[in-house]
Amino acid sequence: MKITIIGTGYVGLVSGAVFADWGHDVVCLDVDQEKIDMIKKGVMPIYEEGLEELVKKVIDEGRFKATTDYKMAVEHGELIFICVGTPSNQAGAANLNYVFNASKSIGKFMKSGEYTVVITKSTVPVGTHQKVKKNILEGAGKKKVDFDVASNPEFLREGTSIYDANNTDRVVVGSDSDKALNMLESLYKHLNAPIVKTDLASAELIKYSANAFLATKISFINEISQICERTGADVVNVAKGMGLDSRIGPKFLNAGIGYGGSCFPKDVEALYRTSSENFYDFRLLRGVMDANERQKEYFLEKVWNKYGKNLSNIKFGILGSAFKNGTDDTRKSVAVSIIKSLRGAGANLLITDPAALSNTKNELGDKHINYSKKIEGVFKDVDAVFILTEWPEFDSIDYEKFGKIMKKKVIFDGRNLLDPETMTKLGFEYFGVGRKV
Ligand code: UDX
Ligand code: UDX
Repeated sequence: MKITIIGTGYVGLVSGAVFADWGHDVVCLDVDQEKIDMIKKGVMPIYEEGLEELVKKVIDEGRFKATTDYKMAVEHGELIFICVGTPSNQAGAANLNYVFNASKSIGKFMKSGEYTVVITKSTVPVGTHQKVKKNILEGAGKKKVDFDVASNPEFLREGTSIYDANNTDRVVVGSDSDKALNMLESLYKHLNAPIVKTDLASAELIKYSANAFLATKISFINEISQICERTGADVVNVAKGMGLDSRIGPKFLNAGIGYGGSCFPKDVEALYRTSSENFYDFRLLRGVMDANERQKEYFLEKVWNKYGKNLSNIKFGILGSAFKNGTDDTRKSVAVSIIKSLRGAGANLLITDPAALSNTKNELGDKHINYSKKIEGVFKDVDAVFILTEWPEFDSIDYEKFGKIMKKKVIFDGRNLLDPETMTKLGFEYFGVGRKV
């Protein structure tokens, strides 16, 4: 099939490369010339495992082109996927300007007499498809165009997105046109996954509901971690015992400093807004968001309790600033938010992260912060080390060896990566989240 992707961010670039790998003829468009130049050279604007190799392969095989030329891109695709960003605006609702601009441009360059399906992959609030349709028609002006709109929400996780695209649990496609649904079905039917064909509004809502439910699971276990701290239970054991119930499942039950990233915070907030706009007070979601904020505060409380709120003579080592492991992404990273609070209290910080150092430096600058590529660098002469991102690399550190170069052997483990008993035996003062020490 001839496929066009608008927006080469995490979702667009990965989807484009994967579709090309499946044998389709793909053109990826972005308005950012710099990004397109990089992609053409085989240099990825984002870090994602296996992406560079995959893009190079499909470029070499002649099935993947990157461009800023809207006319060429739109004329190419029988399926046009909108994958531009949908950041939260100040009121917490999804900002759809990029989606509408893309829709207008698609209308402007769409060829008359050729049937096209325009699909939103970006996460958009329920009802957006009608506005996408309106914007396409507006862009087309007087020209006669033949198209349908569809929704095909994305469930990729950053860090494992290529694997996820090939091994999805399900595909969701929504449209009021059978022709469009059938074309999308033929794109995905080789995957060993059920395809949920539904109406547009349901498809749009599935994405928000899935993300909000996963965020709820995390906030739930985080709240349980607070009960654990107050009763002497251990949240890792509680989560294990709960998760073995197949109705609950073990995933997304890791207590820690809260969820972050470009999706969960924004999607939970946007779903809450959608319900309010429809005169429904979704109180459970308010609780999920509050619990997420509080979890960070409770973690910082452990620091204030030990050192007071003036950290000007204190030096901390920080393991991890990405919003989760496997990515260089620091958008809405709880780790970054905690780093800001520690610096705000006057602490001097040494930070390492296997992939996100450059993004972190761009965001935080170097006032009171030194960046270290080597893990060892953040242990030297520090008063404590913080684990803020769940990179497996931090699990396998030789803490006994590195503990010797610390000023004080103190660990704040915001991701419950380490075993409290082992750390205590090694002579560390250990602070986890809801752990029994
Ligand atoms: C995606 C989805 O689109 C978003 O809805 C979902 O909730 C999270 O994942 P992501 O791929 O992470 O967003 O976005 P981003 O990395 O910001 O990439 C968007 C790309 O679209 C950028 O490269 C930007 O330059 C491009 N863009 C933006 C356009 O090409 N045209 C525009 O009009 C606006
Ligand atoms: C999420 C969804 O999982 C994916 O389906 C959707 O397409 C995009 O949004 P992503 O944002 O890449 O993916 O990350 P995810 O792995 O879901 O983690 C989100 C946040 O939750 C991270 O900050 C992570 O550290 C945190 N988390 C996750 C926990 O705190 N505990 C857990 O048990 C799991």
